[in-house]
Amino acid sequence: MTMTHLCKKTVVTVVNGQLPGPTIEVTEGDSVIVHVVNTSPHNITIHWHGVRQLQNGWNDGVPMVTQCPIQPNQNFTYRFNVAGQVGTLWWHAHVSCLRGTLHGAIVIRPRDGTNSYPFPKPDREVPVVIGDWWSIDLAEVDRKMQDNFFDYFPSGSTLNGKLGDLFNCSGVHEDSFMLDVEPGKTYLLRIINAGLFSEYFFKVASHRFTVVGSDANYVTPFTTDLIVIAPGETVDALLVADARPGKYYMVALPNQAPLPDTQTPEPATRGIDRLGNAGNAGKPAAVLPVMPNQHDVVQSLYFHSNLSALQHPRHRVPQVPKRVDEHMFVTLGLGTACRHGGFKCNWDVESETGLVATMNNISFMVPTAPLLPEHYRHVGSQLSTLVELPDKPPKVFNFTDVSLIPVGPKEKKLETTYKATLARWFRYGSAVEIVFQSTAMLQGDSNPMHLHGHDMFVLAQGAGNFDEARDVAKYNLVNPPRKNTVVVPNLGWVAVRFVADNPGVWYMHCHYEFHLAMGMTAVFIVEDGPTANTSLPPPPVGFPTCSNNEYLVPREVSLQTPQHTVSRLMD
Ligand code: C2O
Repeated sequence: MTMTHLCKKTVVTVVNGQLPGPTIEVTEGDSVIVHVVNTSPHNITIHWHGVRQLQNGWNDGVPMVTQCPIQPNQNFTYRFNVAGQVGTLWWHAHVSCLRGTLHGAIVIRPRDGTNSYPFPKPDREVPVVIGDWWSIDLAEVDRKMQDNFFDYFPSGSTLNGKLGDLFNCSGVHEDSFMLDVEPGKTYLLRIINAGLFSEYFFKVASHRFTVVGSDANYVTPFTTDLIVIAPGETVDALLVADARPGKYYMVALPNQAPLPDTQTPEPATRGIDRLGNAGNAGKPAAVLPVMPNQHDVVQSLYFHSNLSALQHPRHRVPQVPKRVDEHMFVTLGLGTACRHGGFKCNWDVESETGLVATMNNISFMVPTAPLLPEHYRHVGSQLSTLVELPDKPPKVFNFTDVSLIPVGPKEKKLETTYKATLARWFRYGSAVEIVFQSTAMLQGDSNPMHLHGHDMFVLAQGAGNFDEARDVAKYNLVNPPRKNTVVVPNLGWVAVRFVADNPGVWYMHCHYEFHLAMGMTAVFIVEDGPTANTSLPPPPVGFPTCSNNEYLVPREVSLQTPQHTVSRLMD
C-alpha cells in the first residue's frame, strides 16, 4: 500500500493493511498457526523472533536457511508452539529491509493467568513498537544499498507507526502516539525495537520505569528513568502514572557512536503520555524528558548490565551451565572482500571488491539452496559448501584501537577478508561459551547479536578488549539474564553461554540490518541427539521444496566500494 508521511507518498509492504502489523496474543503453551498469503510483489518469509522453536526449525522463517522464500501469489502456513516463555517477542519478515514495515508484537501471557505475574498486576498492557520510517520504498533501499550503502538513512523514527510532532509536512504535524493513563494506575509497556538502523534511548518525562522482563524472560525488577533497547530486543517495563495530571512526552532517541565514526542523520521521535483529563486543548504544553546525549553510548552498557534473571519460587528458570564444552571468541567488524568469494580478485579494481561485515574476519555469503533441508537429508555429514566459523580471529591486535576507525595504513593491513557460507557445528547438548568482541575495524558500532532457536545466558559485558585473566571473574553464574539478542557494546565485549539443545540450522547474526546484509552472520548447526526426542523431526507434510528457479536471487553480500568508504569517512 501507499502511505504518506513527511509530504511524500511511499510504497510500503505491510500485513493486513497495518503498520505495525497485528499483535499475536497467546498464552504460554499455546500452539499458533499463521497462514501467510503473499500478495506483495516480493519474496518473503516471516520469522518468529525469539520463539524457541524446539525441534521445529522448519518454521523459523529464514530464507535460504530454513526454507525457500514465499514467492508472490504463494502461501505458506507456519505452525509453532510457544512453550516456556512469557513476556514479549515479535515477528518480522526475514527479507532484507522489508522487515522495516513487516513486523508486529507477540504477547505471551502466563498459563496460570496474569495474577501470577511476579510483579504488581498492571491495569493495562500496551505494546510500544519503536521503528524507523523510510521515505523510500524499502525494496529499493535493499537494491541500492548493495552499491552505496551509506547513502540511505531512515527519514524518521516511529512509536507504534506514528512519527509524532517533531515531524511535519508544510507545518502540519505528523500524528503522535498517544497513551491515555489514569492517575495511580499501572501500565505494562511491552517495548520492541523493530528498527533497522539504531539502538534507542527511551524515556517518559517525570516518570520512572520498573523493568520486569526482556526477550520473554522475567528479570529481577529494577527501576530506571532510561530504557536502552537495540534492534531485536524487547523490554517489558511497568510505568505507574504517579505524576501530576498533565501531558508528558515519551521520547525515543536513536544513539550513535561518536566521532571518528561516520555520523548519520538519526532523528528522534516522540509520543504523548496523557495523564488524567489532560487531552484537552488549551492546557499547558507537554513536559519534555531530559534525554542523554545521542553519543553517550555507554548508557547502553549500564542499562544492559542491570539485567539479571528473576529468582522466584513460582518461576523456575534453567540454570546456567557451569561446565563448558566449547569456547569461542568472535570478533565483529568491517573489512574488504572480493565480491565473488575467495581472495582471487583484483584488489585494485573498485568493482571487484567491497566493504563487508564479518565474524572472525569472514563475511557470510547467502547459500544458493536452503540449508536446513540439505542438512536434514545428509544428517551427520558436514555440507561441503560451508566453511567452518573459526573459534578465534586469525590475528590478535588491539581490537578497540579507535585509530582503526578511519581508513588508514594500520587499518588496511587488517581489513582483508573473504566471503563464505559460515557455519559452526555443535554436538547435541554441548554447553557453548562465546565471547563477542566489537572491534574498531572501520567503525565503532555496537552489535546486537541475535541467535535463533536458543536463549543465551549473558554472563558479563564490558568496555574495551576482553581480558580473560581479569574478566572471567566478573561472570554472573548465579542469575544471568537469558536473552535471544545480546548487545555487544560499542568497542566492548559480552560473554554468553547457551546449551545447544535444539537440533537444526540456526541463524546467528547482528540485528542491525546493514550489518546483517553486509554479512555479519553465521549459521549454528546443532546435530541430532541420540533419541527421537533429541532429533530434528522430518519436514512437515507439504513442506515446499524449491526448484532452482524458485530461489531468491542469491544476493551478493552488500558491497560498498572502498573508495566510496574512504570519501564518506573523510567527509
Ligand atoms: Cu529478528 Cu534473524 O532475526
